[in-house]
Amino acid sequence: MARIGRRTAAIGTAFALAFAAGGTAIAANVSSEDQALAPTRQPAAKTIEQRVNRLLARMTTQEKLQQVQLLSDGQVTDADAKAGVGSVFSLVDAEQINHLQHVAVEQSRLHIPILFAYDTIHGYRTIFPVPLGAASSFDPAVGRTDAAVGAKESAIQGLKQVYSPMVDVSHEPRWGRIVEGAGEDPYLGSVFAAARVKGTQGTDYSARNKVVASVKHYVGYGQPEGGRDYNTTDMSEQRLRNLYLPPFKAAIDAGADTVMCSFNSLNGVPGCANKYTETDILKKEWGFDGFIESDYTAVAELRACPPVKPDEGPCGHGIAADGPDAGAAALMAGTDSEMVSTYLRDYGKELLSDGKISITRLNDAVKRILRVKFRAGLFEHPYVDVEKASNAASYGKPADLAKARWAAGRSMVLLKNEGEALPLDTTKSTALIGPFGQTVDEMLGPWSGRGSDELAPKFVTLLDGLKAASSAPVTYTAACNLAHNFDPPNNAVPPLTPDDEVCAGPGEDGTSIQDAVNAANDADQVVLALGESGFMSGESNARSQLDLPGYQEDLLKAVAATGKPVVVVLFNGRPLDLTGVVDKPAAILEAWFPGTEGGNAVADVLYGKVNPGGKLPVTFPRGVGTVPTYYNHEPSGRPCDPTFKWNSRYRDLPTCEPLFSFGYGLSYTSFDISKPALSKTKVGRNGSVTVSMNVKNTGDRAGDEVVQLYIHDPVASLSQPVRRLRGFERVTLDAGESTKVTFTLDKSDFGFYDNRGKFVVEPGEIQVFGGDSSAATETASFTVK
Ligand code: NOJ
Repeated sequence: MARIGRRTAAIGTAFALAFAAGGTAIAANVSSEDQALAPTRQPAAKTIEQRVNRLLARMTTQEKLQQVQLLSDGQVTDADAKAGVGSVFSLVDAEQINHLQHVAVEQSRLHIPILFAYDTIHGYRTIFPVPLGAASSFDPAVGRTDAAVGAKESAIQGLKQVYSPMVDVSHEPRWGRIVEGAGEDPYLGSVFAAARVKGTQGTDYSARNKVVASVKHYVGYGQPEGGRDYNTTDMSEQRLRNLYLPPFKAAIDAGADTVMCSFNSLNGVPGCANKYTETDILKKEWGFDGFIESDYTAVAELRACPPVKPDEGPCGHGIAADGPDAGAAALMAGTDSEMVSTYLRDYGKELLSDGKISITRLNDAVKRILRVKFRAGLFEHPYVDVEKASNAASYGKPADLAKARWAAGRSMVLLKNEGEALPLDTTKSTALIGPFGQTVDEMLGPWSGRGSDELAPKFVTLLDGLKAASSAPVTYTAACNLAHNFDPPNNAVPPLTPDDEVCAGPGEDGTSIQDAVNAANDADQVVLALGESGFMSGESNARSQLDLPGYQEDLLKAVAATGKPVVVVLFNGRPLDLTGVVDKPAAILEAWFPGTEGGNAVADVLYGKVNPGGKLPVTFPRGVGTVPTYYNHEPSGRPCDPTFKWNSRYRDLPTCEPLFSFGYGLSYTSFDISKPALSKTKVGRNGSVTVSMNVKNTGDRAGDEVVQLYIHDPVASLSQPVRRLRGFERVTLDAGESTKVTFTLDKSDFGFYDNRGKFVVEPGEIQVFGGDSSAATETASFTVK
């Protein structure tokens, strides 16, 4: 069992305590709130199985084929509902949802309700920080709270499934979708995956404020070659099992009842036609009894493209000759529900009579879908309260906005703070400069649900936030432009360079770099809001460069040359290459895309109401050419040494270190973390050892530290990662206060999967590192007997 730590002293501010319940299904040491949210996966209730079997026995083949169909909002018609379509996604009009549900329940022969789904990724109308930001909190309560508010608002809308959490581990900052996950580490990713599932589903997702979670994208989607979305993934069995599968397993153990298979191929096999991962691992090895839906047209994409087979629509993988073949390949591999394409529904009967699909497999898929619908309470409560769903007062409740603000504050990472430039002084005038000072998309980020429609709460820009927090004047100078959603309606993208997207011309207020310099000279302190536009992250938004686009670095240089203390606030959805940035400002705050309350949350941190305590869940590389750079890499026979020629280094880089390591982040106070103390130095394969560290706030203000525990197995049958995170705990300490953090390690921590997919626990030394980042050096070691 892997564990996150537990403090032995009860401490923390009132606000922190109100939300402080951490922990996950994989945590042995969890708070009482998490015990109430204990793993929800239980043997299928007998009554539900009886209902499923009785209903299945009454279904015709065509009704079964309808049940495995998942249609989009633009596709579905009354006729589909009447015919008994299984699920619909992206429909967010409550009246239409209700109408279709009435048709399905009252006019279809078997009265089976439709499951309505949506991509609620970091909030529905109350938007929380993007998931990569939330992971920076190193606090599972942030993920759980976000998911719980998102589930509640989605359910009010009439939805009963969310395509979340996205748990793809990724070492690829070029990949736009790194923003949707918890970063590069399988352990942190597992803790967040479980927390989000619990927040989404609670202990029983038939509750009116809960929905069923769909974990995605199964599997390996986070590691596309070249960082280009949808691209090929090829990896060893040990990497698959040690790095990419753990968050899925944690989500399933926490009760997630649906899974989305991925677009990419893994070792040559596309995600939605992969019997090994879908059936052998997920369903048989892990005992998953919910259903798997395909990603968008992922079944159609199994087909070969013309001219091999003249046909229309999505295609590419070439493991099926045509659509019906693709449907058969997906179903027989273990995919239970077909999104957008309709091959099983349209050709299923022929496929059955040709023996290309079996009735046993079709029945199994239908049973899984019905099981989830019964568990969701859809048969008892199929309809949405349209009036409530259409009332803005139902969303963005003050308590939820407070949670979003708290979550955003907890997610920010202080990367630099020279000369204590931060926190700013509320009584001094502030010049806010940069294209991100007054924008919505960069507060909300990609996949922001319905966060900016007419029923959503008012979002807070950075300028609004600074003005509300400061008692002195705050001026705003855009200095350059932001290009909002660049995609024309037909999805055809004109050739664009990063300069087309952000900061390529004058600001919307007509200002330029010179105006920014003048504004800086006129103010006591300067906040420079820089980053990527919201549309540069997310699906299909890979970048080949990782620096700040446009002339943002020139803007920074010119403003820094004024000699005023410059604080850079970054809005972005991926690790950036900050080599051209890092030396110029006095302070850098990584704010990610912080959500509806983003402007307030950034102001809380800048003016010191909130002391930042987030840590990086991904490595920030030193130049795009060093990608992938990640902390938990295997060692080399020629470990990197910048001073010696014949080893694993870059000849044009004088260092082996990334710009900012995984787990790194500063505070306005300072901490001292003691060397790890072990409860024993020898442990049996089935035994456990506790590791304790004392942490003391050595500064003069209250603050948060994330105590981190890493291990390394120096001699093993497979070369082991140089560090592996196996425990962390975020603590809040008053000035001068100290506490003890204790972690427990057992075979789930010091064992690993080999290349045959077997979990092995080998005798020998395990090194333990404790500290405040993955560069932690304080060591101890024990021996596994
Ligand atoms: C495609 C994306 O890959 C997936 O994450 C999303 O859930 C579906 N589209 C449905 O919107």
